[in-house]
Amino acid sequence: DAAEKGGCEHFMLKEMYEQPKAITDTFSPRLKGKEIVIEELGMSDEDILSVKKMMIVACGSAYHAGVTGKYVLEGMARIPVEVDLASEYRYRDPLIEEGTLMIIISQSGETADSLAALRDSRSRGAKVLGIVNVVGSSIAREADNVMYTWAGPEIAVATTKAYSCQLIALYLLAMKFAKVRGTVTDQELEGYIEDLKRIPEQVEMLLNNKNRIQKFATRYLAARDVFFIGRGIDYAISLEGSLKLKEISYIHSEAYAAGELKHGTISLIEEGTLVAAVLTQEKLYQKMISNMVEVRTRGAFVLAVTNEGNGEVKRAADYVIYIPETNPYFTNSLAIIPLQLFGYYISVGKGCDVDKPRNLAKSVTVE
Ligand code: G6P
Repeated sequence: DAAEKGGCEHFMLKEMYEQPKAITDTFSPRLKGKEIVIEELGMSDEDILSVKKMMIVACGSAYHAGVTGKYVLEGMARIPVEVDLASEYRYRDPLIEEGTLMIIISQSGETADSLAALRDSRSRGAKVLGIVNVVGSSIAREADNVMYTWAGPEIAVATTKAYSCQLIALYLLAMKFAKVRGTVTDQELEGYIEDLKRIPEQVEMLLNNKNRIQKFATRYLAARDVFFIGRGIDYAISLEGSLKLKEISYIHSEAYAAGELKHGTISLIEEGTLVAAVLTQEKLYQKMISNMVEVRTRGAFVLAVTNEGNGEVKRAADYVIYIPETNPYFTNSLAIIPLQLFGYYISVGKGCDVDKPRNLAKSVTVE
């Protein structure tokens, strides 16, 4: 058992440590010098240009990867993207217009709702791209084309490395579409490729700083509620950070778009409530800092996850975790690492079954 876990106490920790390699394995076959080559897309440049809209459908963490994907694809490739939960999509009589590329994201490739969404959209005439981890799984077999995430087998119920690879697949897709659609310059694209290549070592560095998060987590083992707030891509990170915490530690947690705080959530803030604020988007720093001040003046303890060099954050945070520099589209890949570690150490500290949390399954193949 110990050998299977590569000397780690849990599969989740082992899999978090495998992220640098998994990320590299996912992007490197698709980088050919200064070009992004995704042969398995099965799409010529004309095919790419004929895509008018994308729909991303998934469950759980794969859905959260999709939410990030929306920001990246819309921002970089200027293409409209809709994201939906598979269990919602499949029962809402969705509209599929001509030129819609359907993207189903799934680690296992067996999630019942995601598979049903795939079948439904194909029957409505959509072309389906699967972003899947398990080779030969049902979603991989039934999609028109499959882009594999090369994370390798994932055992812990709470996904870490597969989620990280889904993000990479979406970045690659965005870069490819952006290049063909002419929404990035060659120089910008080169910059993105350089940033992409640096992610594995940056993730490694964040993993090596785990003791700092562990120390912080042990102070919050008795927390009742935790709120994660962010804007834009940072909202997408918050969704996943909150899920990691609640699924393995059984602490109630919620993610909120920070601008929504004033429409309800702020009434839940009490003396000592932990608020994790994610602020990696420089153009939104000031907005986030105002939200952090708002919760702090109501007694919240604010943990901030932000970019190195954000000097102002200290004004509004009690504890700060810095992530190394990358471009604004890729920050999720770095900011999620301390949040994964936070959930993990709370779970370990509370003595929970980290790899097999109660009531949850790795793959939900029945409804
Ligand atoms: C389960 C797992 C989650 C996962 C979700 C979707 O709920 O516990 O970690 O994100 O299913 O699974 P999939 O295999 O489709 O990515």
